[in-house]
Amino acid sequence: MLEDIFQSPTSVSLFGVFVALLLLHLLHSSFSSQERREPPGPRPLPVFGNLFQVDLKRPDQSLFNLSKKYGPVFQIYLGLKKVVVLAGYRTVKQALVNQAEEFGNIDISPIIYDFNQGHGIALANGDSWKEMKRFALTTLRDFGMGKKMSEDLIIEECGYLIKEFEQLEGETFDRSQTIDYASSNVVSALTFGKRFDYEDPIFQTMVERNHETLCLIGSASIQLYNLIPWLGPFLKNWRDFMKNMEDMKADIRKLITDLKETLDPEVCRCFIDAFLIRKKHLEDSDIIDSHYHDENLLFSVINFFGAGTETTATTLKWSLLYMAKFPHIQDRVQEELSRVVGSCQIQIDDRKNLPYTNAVIHETQRFANIGPFSVPHATTKDVTLQGYFIKKGTTVLTLLTSVLYDENEWESPHSFNPSHFLDDEGKFIRRDAFMPFSAGRRACLGESHAKMELFLFFASLLQNFHFIPPPGVSEDDLDLKPVLGCTLNPKPQQLCAVLRR
Ligand code: HEM
Ligand SMILES: *[C@@H]1O[C@H](CO)[C@@H](O)[C@H](O)[C@H]1NC(C)=O
Repeated sequence: MLEDIFQSPTSVSLFGVFVALLLLHLLHSSFSSQERREPPGPRPLPVFGNLFQVDLKRPDQSLFNLSKKYGPVFQIYLGLKKVVVLAGYRTVKQALVNQAEEFGNIDISPIIYDFNQGHGIALANGDSWKEMKRFALTTLRDFGMGKKMSEDLIIEECGYLIKEFEQLEGETFDRSQTIDYASSNVVSALTFGKRFDYEDPIFQTMVERNHETLCLIGSASIQLYNLIPWLGPFLKNWRDFMKNMEDMKADIRKLITDLKETLDPEVCRCFIDAFLIRKKHLEDSDIIDSHYHDENLLFSVINFFGAGTETTATTLKWSLLYMAKFPHIQDRVQEELSRVVGSCQIQIDDRKNLPYTNAVIHETQRFANIGPFSVPHATTKDVTLQGYFIKKGTTVLTLLTSVLYDENEWESPHSFNPSHFLDDEGKFIRRDAFMPFSAGRRACLGESHAKMELFLFFASLLQNFHFIPPPGVSEDDLDLKPVLGCTLNPKPQQLCAVLRR
């Protein structure tokens, strides 16, 4: 039979065509799989994926280590979910800045959707996000830099914070809550047009609840919920999270209502006023389907409160711990402050004359690395990065740890070294790989505010107080290992604030 086929000339030519087609097909698919080469990565186990290769105490360090093995673009499976990890300054910048559009979505996991149903700024995408971010940026700019308003707000808050530290009379404190309150008050003043008393129980609850909610989002059982959403009602963390959200919305709706009732379109007191005025303006022009609706207002405010409190406060807590840990650096900051501003009120204009102090704050943000993963992004379309194909909708982690500790960018990435931000003459220099606020189109909206706040708070505190370990504890005993909560936090430990005056 076989012989028959090969003996018939038509069969031979048919067979030839078949083989040729097969070869073509193989060639083609090997070409296109080259074109569509997925990023490398460790081989995943069924169901668990690569979970056992990640140290859950320092997941960012584990991924940083994996990037040294698999390269700056690699993929891992967190359970069943595939995640592409980008590591190192060059790669993260290439994605976030050069391919900003493609890497510019936030990954909307089930818990993120429960959080805000697509409204607000930080955890939203698309046209609504674009409009809300643009509006928030212009509004903050109007209140901000040039106009003195936010500087005055922060300086006023510094006064309250210093008073609290004075009342300690050199006694020990641990991760003082007042730092959370002070930082939250700056955001509150911008959004609600007023600050709260540190003793105000409603305010205290709002700050505490905000912290708790962020921690819940990061918890293991919520990650489980993200993979298997129907588990939600059975998980205590999910129920707590939903309750927190309802309470938070109720508190903020009440603050918004108070402002609505006293609104004067001629006098804009805060972000909420600006939003309400714009909304009314649009309604007066019969534009009813705009993005300026109550839900977007509510969640933008929740985002300000959520993104603006914890981040700045945690950074300040690290800065005080570093000062107690490295007294020679604290001495140099205080020498500079005494020489340049003496006992005058510190202003933002002084920053250019305080290069060492400014470098210490930048080094604090680099070394503390409080948001090691930034916020998980997702690709908006099929995209190729460094020759690797990444499908539309893939979760992408921009590993900020690997940028802030990039060995190709920093002279001594693993030590606290303010010289990273100083030139040979001791002048302040910017560094490209300084990326704690992320970069590109999703970059932190509060960056210039946060920088102003960190500078004024830090410099005022150091002008007034010397930070030391408590009696019986040496600098060596102070522990710089972070605890992974929602942000990387310093371990709770005692410090003393000794009045310098
Ligand atoms: C030390 C202080 C701060 C740090 C380290 C920080 C860091 C970040 C980071 C890493 C992101 C995510 C960017 C991304 O997805 O790629 C972000 C986004 C954001 N931050 Fe901040 N932030 C700080 C302070 C603030 C403050 C004070 C505010 C409010 C006034 C704020 C408001 C926001 C908002 C609204 C977003 C979302 C932007 C968007 O999705 O387009 N942040 N921040
Ligand atoms: C990362 O690698 C370093 C050096 O090999 C090692 O000391 C460290 O324990 C690793 N960290 C994690 C979290 O895997």
